[in-house]
Amino acid sequence: MKHAAQIFIATTLALGSSAVFAQSPGMPSGMQHGMGGGMMRGPAGMLTSQDANSPTDMRLVMDLVHNNTKLRRTVTHLPDGIKTVTESDDPKVAQAIQAHVASMSGRLKDGKEFNIFSTTLPVIFDNADKIKSVVEMTDKGAIVNRTSADAKVAAALQAHAAEVSELVQEGPTAFHRGLSARMAMGPDGPRGAMKRTAQTTKPAVSASQSPHTHDHSFSGADQWAKVFDDPKRDAWQKPHEVIQALKLKPDAVVADIGSGTGYFSVRFAHMVPKGRVYGLDTEPDMVKYLAERAKREGLNNITAVQAKPGDSRLPEKADVVILVDVYHHVENRELYFRQLQASLKPGGRLAIIDFTMDSPQGPPKAARIAPEQVKAELQRAGYALSEEHGFLPNQYFLVFRPGRT
Ligand code: HEM
Repeated sequence: MKHAAQIFIATTLALGSSAVFAQSPGMPSGMQHGMGGGMMRGPAGMLTSQDANSPTDMRLVMDLVHNNTKLRRTVTHLPDGIKTVTESDDPKVAQAIQAHVASMSGRLKDGKEFNIFSTTLPVIFDNADKIKSVVEMTDKGAIVNRTSADAKVAAALQAHAAEVSELVQEGPTAFHRGLSARMAMGPDGPRGAMKRTAQTTKPAVSASQSPHTHDHSFSGADQWAKVFDDPKRDAWQKPHEVIQALKLKPDAVVADIGSGTGYFSVRFAHMVPKGRVYGLDTEPDMVKYLAERAKREGLNNITAVQAKPGDSRLPEKADVVILVDVYHHVENRELYFRQLQASLKPGGRLAIIDFTMDSPQGPPKAARIAPEQVKAELQRAGYALSEEHGFLPNQYFLVFRPGRT
């Protein structure tokens, strides 16, 4: 390995200030969206704390995730930590590695946690003063040595290096998996999950609310769009086939519950030029994002609607109500869907698409709901199964109508 420009940063990291644990308010109860379409806050919004550099750091991370095939990485476990080599032949990607490592090193020094779903990073940030770091920039990336005399911290460093390696190996797939895990952790995120599994002894420092500016929240949805609207999703989500299967009339009214960044809503809007698409989401960033997107793309038959958790009322009666990767987030489902019947036109249908139990994508298995359970629950809520499509590789696709079979 050639080291054209070698910069050695050897420092024992010290916590500049006590780590602020500025948790965003978390996901609302009731309807919360799964990874497929929205209704949860974007990756930036899911950060354990947000600050002025978060959007930049998030963009860098997303670039790395999306360029994972251009990354090379080796991890050596030292008795007290790790030595990692992360490089790329693409100069832009190499630069991104260096910028990320430099920024994260700075964050460790300043105690500014940057984390979405890792349960090892809180241990690392809480014990940053016990970590010795040597970061060496190479001409293609970075070599990072982090060690600690504290065995718990050394183990966290090794575990986090493994998390990074997973992201390098699997790219967006691993990132989606992490986001799903984050969803399952609930509003208090990795620290809450750690507390529950008693992996740490140190509680969150303070629960102050980060300033939530318009820009920050919008950039969260923007980053989210990269995940939800990733063209690779089309391969398994098959949006065109899904919409064809619903055989919509051009004047149909469609309600996309948990519309997120509009992955399905915009596609529906093209299929119902004389109709209307309501994209509902409980997450204000997503509502704002969809409204802007509809305007930008000239789709004036889309209405973005701020949904209230648990409130099943739609602005207008619909021909089709669809929930993509949302069903498993709906609380009090029987009541919710029973009430939803009042928002269906005569002959209206309810379509549920969600991850199968053995899908490689989707939330942790414990959070998934088998199609048999969906059928049983919706039968109790007064629906009858009318169609079952089997063409989606990772999801079931069920269509119901009010009434008994
Ligand atoms: C493909 C994606 C990613 C790559 C290539 C990458 C690369 C790296 C590298 C090389 C390090 C130095 C430590 C080590 O080698 O293990 C590091 C540290 C760090 N990364 Fe990332 N990372 C990625 C994704 C993420 C994500 C998604 C987050 C959080 C949202 C994150 C947050 C951090 C933090 C906080 C550190 C400092 C902790 C430490 O040095 O061990 N990284 N990353």
